Amino acid sequence: MSAFLDNLFGFNGQVAIVTGASRGIGAAIADTLAEAGAHVIGVARSAKPDQASVAGVTYVSCDIADADAFKKVCTDAFARHGRLDILVNNAGIFVPIKTDDDRIKAFDAMIAADLRACYTCAIAASDLMKKAGNGGAIVNITSIGAVRGFANMPGYAAAKGGLEHLSRALAMDLGPHNIRVNNIAPGYIITSMNRHTLTTDTAGRDRRLARLILKRHGDTWEVAAAALFLASKAGSYLTGDTLHVDGGWAWQGMG
Ligand SMILES: NC(=O)c1ccc[n+]([C@@H]2O[C@H](COP(=O)([O-])OP(=O)(O)OC[C@H]3O[C@@H](n4cnc5c(N)ncnc54)[C@H](O)[C@@H]3O)[C@@H](O)[C@H]2O)c1
Repeated sequence: MSAFLDNLFGFNGQVAIVTGASRGIGAAIADTLAEAGAHVIGVARSAKPDQASVAGVTYVSCDIADADAFKKVCTDAFARHGRLDILVNNAGIFVPIKTDDDRIKAFDAMIAADLRACYTCAIAASDLMKKAGNGGAIVNITSIGAVRGFANMPGYAAAKGGLEHLSRALAMDLGPHNIRVNNIAPGYIITSMNRHTLTTDTAGRDRRLARLILKRHGDTWEVAAAALFLASKAGSYLTGDTLHVDGGWAWQGMG
């Protein structure tokens, strides 16, 4: 790679924390940032990743719902490396509603994990980014569900929509410290969260594919590439924005 491109897309010496890094999209983001030269702390509830990972990712065990525990992950990383440059708020859950009695419980669980915890993580990381004075980047993983209505998932839609708007608010507060806050809204990316639906709900799969401009599901590396861009110097004039990595789902028109 030329020195020019290395300056734009390289992360040598930088320190990144990626939540939900044990599998799926989070693992791909952690591996990609490490490949690009960052020291990556991969946060997972179980510290044992269930897929192979590249060198450069150190796994730590933490439930992001525990704000104090996540703060300690950040302060430990800062003490060890003397800086913190990137937070990727990737960890998230989808709780299906099976009966009417489940509705409020599912809503509360998703607001707690997919919205509130992302805010507490952003506070913990950005306080240290401010202290280091090197600027920084926060990338929040939202969803196509933040812009499109989906049946039977009000909690997920509310949490992810809230997270998108939280990012804009944080971009305002953190911009003076050169800390940028952006979102990635993935469409349908095949991971353990949804792989089963390819065979258990073939009608839904076919309806979905028909709606996508690119007529295929996405891969985890395609979200990781967008995260690398938003966290890198190449993305240095973007803040408060959202990249839809969705095969054209968000903006498909008539035709
Ligand atoms: N896969 C998709 O099609 C898709 C689409 C849109 C958005 N997303 C979002 O992308 C992100 C990653 O999804 P994925 O498909 O890789 O899912 P996944 O279930 O494969 O991975 C989610 C990861 O988050 C971790 N996690 C969940 N709650 C946690 C907590 N409280 N503390 C620590 N870790 C926790 C899980 O252990 C897991 O490692 C999620 O925020 C999800 O909502 C996924």
